[in-house]
Amino acid sequence: MNIAVVGTGYVGLVTGTCFAETGNHVICVDIDANKVQMMKDGKVPIYEPHLDVLFERNIRQGRLHFTTDLASAIKDAQIIFLALPTPPGEDGSADLKYVLGVADDLGRIITDYKVIVDKSTVPVGTSEKVHAALAKHAKTDLFDVVSNPEFLREGFAVDDFLKPDRVVVGTSSARAQKVMEDLYKPFVRQGNPIIFMDERSAELTKYAANAFLATKITFMNEIANFCERVGADVDKVRIGIGTDSRIGKRFLFPGIGYGGSCFPKDVQALAKSGNDAGYEFQIIKAVMEVNEDQKTSIIPKIKSQFGDLKGKHFALWGLAFKPDTDDIREAPALYVIDELVAAGATVTAFDPEAMPNVKKLKGDKMNFAKDEYEALQGADALIIATEWSLFRTPDFKRVAELLKEKTIFDGRNLYELDEMEKLGFTYVSVGRQTVGAKKHVSA
Ligand SMILES: NC(=O)c1ccc[n+]([C@@H]2O[C@H](COP(=O)([O-])OP(=O)(O)OC[C@H]3O[C@@H](n4cnc5c(N)ncnc54)[C@H](O)[C@@H]3O)[C@@H](O)[C@H]2O)c1
Repeated sequence: MNIAVVGTGYVGLVTGTCFAETGNHVICVDIDANKVQMMKDGKVPIYEPHLDVLFERNIRQGRLHFTTDLASAIKDAQIIFLALPTPPGEDGSADLKYVLGVADDLGRIITDYKVIVDKSTVPVGTSEKVHAALAKHAKTDLFDVVSNPEFLREGFAVDDFLKPDRVVVGTSSARAQKVMEDLYKPFVRQGNPIIFMDERSAELTKYAANAFLATKITFMNEIANFCERVGADVDKVRIGIGTDSRIGKRFLFPGIGYGGSCFPKDVQALAKSGNDAGYEFQIIKAVMEVNEDQKTSIIPKIKSQFGDLKGKHFALWGLAFKPDTDDIREAPALYVIDELVAAGATVTAFDPEAMPNVKKLKGDKMNFAKDEYEALQGADALIIATEWSLFRTPDFKRVAELLKEKTIFDGRNLYELDEMEKLGFTYVSVGRQTVGAKKHVSA
């Protein structure tokens, strides 16, 4: 098939590349001319494991192209994917200006039948708005609008796209349904379903999935906070409940809050959609409040060890909102940095991929190291904010030598308590007893 993908960010570029990988001809469109030039030069503009191999192969074999020109990109396309940003507006609702703007443009330029697929995460009722924006200038028999929310995870995006747990397609058109079925068939050969439903249910499925996952993490964070107060070990509780097949092992790891480009904005947008429909989501509201506090929950722990933070210097491992991505949108590390700097401390950070993005935002506020050990030089303590594999088994002898005080604040529970005790570290983690504390963090 000939496919156009409008918006080549984390979702659009993975979508376009993976569709090219299954033999389709794909043209990716973006308004960011620098990004398009970079891709034309054969460079992947984001860090996403395994994407580069597919990207290069499909360019070489002539199935993947890039342009800033929407009209030429969609001319021969049977399917047009919208993978555009839906950032939070001032009131927390998803801002649809990118999606509806492109829909309006498309209405003016389509001349033959197209399936227009919304892959962005959008509130219930958006496909009707996209339909209306198109219909302002195009005849309605020239297009169908389909909702096809994306469930990929950054860091595993290629694998998730090529082998999805499920594909959700919202459409009331039999013609569009057939096109979508043919397109996705190669991705579900192992038997995972393509689930067809109406557009509104498909749109809500995405929000419900993200809100549920954010709730699961947040629930565990609350259990962890409680563990710290009553002397229980959240790791033991996690395994104890995760082995129950009704609960499941995944998404039970406590930490310093969820971040990223999706959970915070999607949870907020669902709450706002609820309000607009006269329904108050109480669980969602609580999830947002708990997560807000969780992002800086490490700060009182640091203060409890060091007292006044003025003049203290901290090493920070991890900036990305999670490992295996350079995405720093709503990353908890950024909130920790702000709090430390506001308290008069200084910070030197290391992250394997996310430093260029953080430099653009906070370059004047902090320092960056060339590797994880350089970050430790002269630091009073180490703070861990992202669970990159690199940080899981460091040379603890070197860590101890480089730090002024052998103290680690671990926001991701990377290390075993008894090992840290043996090594003589003061080790403060999440939902577990503090090891070797000078002062009492937990009751
Ligand atoms: N990032 C994820 O993990 C993920 C997962 C599932 C769903 N989503 C959803 O997918 C959508 C896209 O997310 P993303 O993370 O890929 O965003 P992104 O910000 O990484 O990429 C969006 C791209 O769209 C481009 N763009 C903006 N306006 C344009 C226009 N008028 N024409 C052409 N291009 C334009 C931007 O330049 C950018 O390259 C969002 O709705 C998001 O919620 C994201």
